[in-house]
Amino acid sequence: MFETSRGTLPPRAWSRSDAGRVDLSGTWAFRYGDSPEAPADFVEALPEGWGEIKVPGHWQLQGHGAPIYTNQRYPIPVDVPRVPDENPTGDYAREFDVPASWDGGRIVLRFEGVDSFARVWVNGSEIGSTSASRLPNEFDVTDHVRRGERNLVAVRVAQWSANSYIEDQDMWWLSGLFREVTLLHRPDGSIGDHVITADFDAAAGLGTLSATADVPARLVVPELGVDVAAGESVELAVEPWSAEEPRLYRGTLASESETIELAIGFRRVEVADGVLVVNGRPIQFRGVNRHEFHPETGRALDEQTMLDDVLLMKRHNLNAVRTSHYPPHPRFLELCDEYGLWVIDECDFETHGFGGQGFSSGPGNPVDDERWQPALVERMRRMVIRDRNRPSILMWSLGNECGPGRNIAPMANAGRELDTTRLIHYERDFTSEHVDIHANMYLDFHDLEALGRREEEALDDAALDAHRRAQPFILSEYAHAMGNGPGGLTEYQELFDRYPRLAGGFIWEWIDQAILTTDAEGREFYGYGGDFGEEIHDGHFVADGLLFPDRTPSPGLIEAKKVFEPLRIEAASDRIRLESARDAVTTRDLAARWSLETEGEVVASGTLDLPPVPAREVVEIAMPDLPETAGETWFTVRAVLAADAPWAEAGHEVATGQWQLTEPATREPARVTVAEPAVGPGSFDGHGRLESLGPLLVDAPHLDVWRAPIDNDHCFWGFEPPVMDAWLREGLDRMHHRTDEVTWRGDSLEVVTRTAAANSRLALVSRWLWTSDGGGLDLALTVTPEGEWTTPLPRLGIRLGLPGVFSDAEWFGRGPGESYVDSHRAALIGRYRSSIDGLQTPYVMPQDNGQRSETRWVELTSTDGASLRVSGAEPFGFTARRWTTEQLAAATHPSDLVAGDRVWLTLDAYQYGLGSASCGAAVHPKYRHLPEETTMRIRFDVRG
Ligand code: GAL
Ligand code: MG
Repeated sequence: MFETSRGTLPPRAWSRSDAGRVDLSGTWAFRYGDSPEAPADFVEALPEGWGEIKVPGHWQLQGHGAPIYTNQRYPIPVDVPRVPDENPTGDYAREFDVPASWDGGRIVLRFEGVDSFARVWVNGSEIGSTSASRLPNEFDVTDHVRRGERNLVAVRVAQWSANSYIEDQDMWWLSGLFREVTLLHRPDGSIGDHVITADFDAAAGLGTLSATADVPARLVVPELGVDVAAGESVELAVEPWSAEEPRLYRGTLASESETIELAIGFRRVEVADGVLVVNGRPIQFRGVNRHEFHPETGRALDEQTMLDDVLLMKRHNLNAVRTSHYPPHPRFLELCDEYGLWVIDECDFETHGFGGQGFSSGPGNPVDDERWQPALVERMRRMVIRDRNRPSILMWSLGNECGPGRNIAPMANAGRELDTTRLIHYERDFTSEHVDIHANMYLDFHDLEALGRREEEALDDAALDAHRRAQPFILSEYAHAMGNGPGGLTEYQELFDRYPRLAGGFIWEWIDQAILTTDAEGREFYGYGGDFGEEIHDGHFVADGLLFPDRTPSPGLIEAKKVFEPLRIEAASDRIRLESARDAVTTRDLAARWSLETEGEVVASGTLDLPPVPAREVVEIAMPDLPETAGETWFTVRAVLAADAPWAEAGHEVATGQWQLTEPATREPARVTVAEPAVGPGSFDGHGRLESLGPLLVDAPHLDVWRAPIDNDHCFWGFEPPVMDAWLREGLDRMHHRTDEVTWRGDSLEVVTRTAAANSRLALVSRWLWTSDGGGLDLALTVTPEGEWTTPLPRLGIRLGLPGVFSDAEWFGRGPGESYVDSHRAALIGRYRSSIDGLQTPYVMPQDNGQRSETRWVELTSTDGASLRVSGAEPFGFTARRWTTEQLAAATHPSDLVAGDRVWLTLDAYQYGLGSASCGAAVHPKYRHLPEETTMRIRFDVRG
C-alpha cells in the first residue's frame, strides 16, 4: 500500500557496460483504459487490434487522456494511500527476442522511469511492480524468457497510485513508460553495484582512487598508469575535476565477464569555516533548477535535448543545476560530468499538497508518517546508489516541500551510510538538524543579507542554532523566472559576492513547462493549466522558466548570463579593472576585443591583451590609446573564448564591460513663431491635442501610467501584498484625462491636463509645452502629482498612436533585447535595428514586454519611406506594438494578439521594476517610483 517495488532487484550503479543490452524503445502496442483493475487479458499473447504508442513517452501527449497541471494540489481526492476508481491506465505490450549470444548469466528487464506505477508480465507471468517514477526498477526475468523464441513483455501502468502522494511536484501530471525500457544480459561474474571513489587533496595536489565491486574486478586508468584490484586504493598526483575545468580520467572497471567504462573526476566537497569549499577553494553556485521538459514530449527527453540543456547552461555562464525535483535521466548527469556543471541531485519526494490539507508537517503528511518510511528510505538509497559515481554531484537532496517530519532523519542517514563524499541538502529542514547546508528559497534581499552576516533569527534550541549558524547558506530557489523577469539578479549577486557564507543559489526555473497544442482553428500555441480541460489547475504558473518552451533563451536568461559572467570588466579611473568571478581556474581561455562607439557608430576598435586573471582575483591593465571623440561615446569590451571549448566555439562571448567616455551635448531647442493650429510639423485640435505630425495622422499622445500587468505584479506567492492590488484600488488602469487649459503663445502651445481615476482625489497634472525650431516638434512635459500618493506607479510616460505602415525601428540606447530597470545589464548601449514585430517578446502569458530602456532616440520607418524619429533630452524607455496595452493585457496566449491598423508607441520616463514577486521577493525598493515632479523632453522629427 505505502508503495515500495515488488519483485525488483537490489539497486546498483548506473553504468556503461559492454554486456549485452537490447533497447526496447520504439513502438509498443497500446490500449488506453480507465481502470487498473480491468482484467489483465493482454499478458499471454500480443494483443490484436490495439493502437500504438511510442516508448519512451507519455500517453497524454500521444492522444490518450489529457495532461493536468497543478502546482501543489492533488487532482485526486486526498485519501492516503488509496486512489480513485477512475484511474487512467495504459496497457503496453511488445515482443522481443533474447539474443542467442547471451549465454548463461541472468537476463534483466530494466525500466529507467515509469510514472506512476506499473505491473509487469513476461510471457504471461507476473514478475513484479514498480515504484518511484523517476528511478529505475530492474527485474530478473531469466526464468521467464525463452531464448531463441519470441517473448512478450506486457506492462500495465496506472496514472494514480500511492506513489502519486509522494510525487506532488509542481509540474504536469504525465504518465507512462517515459524513459527507456531495456533488456540486459548480466553474464555470470558481471559487476553489480560498484563504487568509484576519487578524492582530491588540494593542499597536496593528490588524488586517492579506489573502486569497490561485488565481484572480483580490476580498476584500470591508463592515463594515470593505474591498474589495481577493486578494493585497493592508490594515491597519485592528478588534476582535479571542477565545473570550470571538468577534468575526467577515462578508465575501466572489469570483471572476468564485463567491462564498465568509467569517467573519473577527482574532487572533494566540504564545509570549511562555515563556507562551501570544493577542492580547497570556496565555490558559488550560479545555478538553475531544472525540470526535465520538452513541449512535445514532456518529461521524455531524447539525448539531444539533454545535451541542448547542458550547452545552453554553459553558454549562459550557469555553473550549477539542481535536479528539481527528482533524479534526472542518468545521461544528463553524465553530460554534467563531461561539460562541467555542479549538481544537487534530488530525491523523487514532494508532498506539497498536504500543506493545503492542513498538514504541512505532522503525521497527516507522509514525511512524518512512519508507514511511508520504508518507501522513502528506499527512494533515497536508490538515488544514491544509481548516481554516486558521478563526479558532478556535490550534494544529495532529500526532496522538496514535504515539510519537516520523522522520515527525514532516516532518509539522511541512509544517504550518509552509502556515501560520505557528498553533503546532504533538503529543501525544508529549516532548522538544518539533518542536513549539512542551510537552505531556503525566495528570500528577499534583507533576509538574505542577514544570513550572509550570520545574523539570522536564532532557533530556540541553542545547540541546533549553533550548528546551523556554522553552515554555508544557499538559495535552493530564487529569482522566479515567470513571465517578464526575473528582475533583481544583480542585487542578489551582490549579496552572494559580499558574504562568503552565501554559496549562491538556483534560479527557478530552467524552462517554461508549456505544452505545444492547437486551438479550434488549428493554430499552434503553448498551453498551460486550464488549456486541457482540467477539473482543477493552476493556470500558467507552470510557465516560469529562463527558456521559452521551444528552448529559445528568454531575456531573463540573457540577463543571468551577464550577471553570472566569469570576468567582470570595469573602468578603474583611466585603467581597466578585470575581476575574475571564477572559483577554480584562471581566465587564460579568454581573449578580448574593445570598441569605441560614438552615437552607436564604431570609431575605433582593437584587441585587448588579457592577462590570465587567477580565480577570484583582480588585475588592472592599461586602456588602449583612443582617438578624440565628440558626441556621446562609449567604450565596450567583449571577452570571448580564445579557442573552441567543448560547449561553444572560439569567439563565443562570455563577458562584457562597457562605460561612457563622453557625455552627449545638451541643447536648448530653438523656438520659432507658432500660430494655431500648428506648431512646426505638429497640428493640434481645439483641445490642444496633437492630430498630425507632418503627413502622419496620429492618435494624440496622452499621459499613460499603466502597463499590461506582468506575472510579478500579480504576485501569486509573494511575501508582500501584490502591488497590483494597490494599482487596481487606485484605478491606475482606468485613468481619465481632462484638458484644463490650452494657451497659444507666440512661440509655444501650452496645454494643461489632469489625469485621475473615478472616485479618487489623486491626480497627475501635466503641463505640455509644445515648441518648434521650424524643423521638428519639441515637447517638454512636466507631470506633477496632486494628493497624497502612496503607491508607486507602474509607469510614467505617454502613449501615441501611429499609422500601421511603420514596420521597423532603429534606436540608440540599450539593446538589442528588451530591458527593464532591474534587468538591463545584458543590454549594452548601442545602435540597434529590429522590425516592430521583432520587438515583441512572446511570453507564454502575454504581459508587458519588449521595452527598450535608456533610449536616446528611436526612428520608426515604413516601407513607403515615412519615418518618425523620437529623441529625448534624457534617455527614455520605448515600446512599439501593433496592439494596445489593454489588448495585450486581455490576451491569454500570444496567438490572441492580432495586429490592428495602428502602431502604438509608448515613451516612458520610468517604469516599475520587474522583481520576482510572482513567487518571492518584491521589486527592490530602489526600483519603485512614487510620483514626484517629473519632466520629459522629447522631440519628434518626421520625414517622408
Ligand atoms: C517552489 C517549489 C517549486 C515551484 C516554485 C514556484 O516553492 O519548490 O517546485 O513550485 O515554488 O514556481
Ligand atoms: Mg511544490
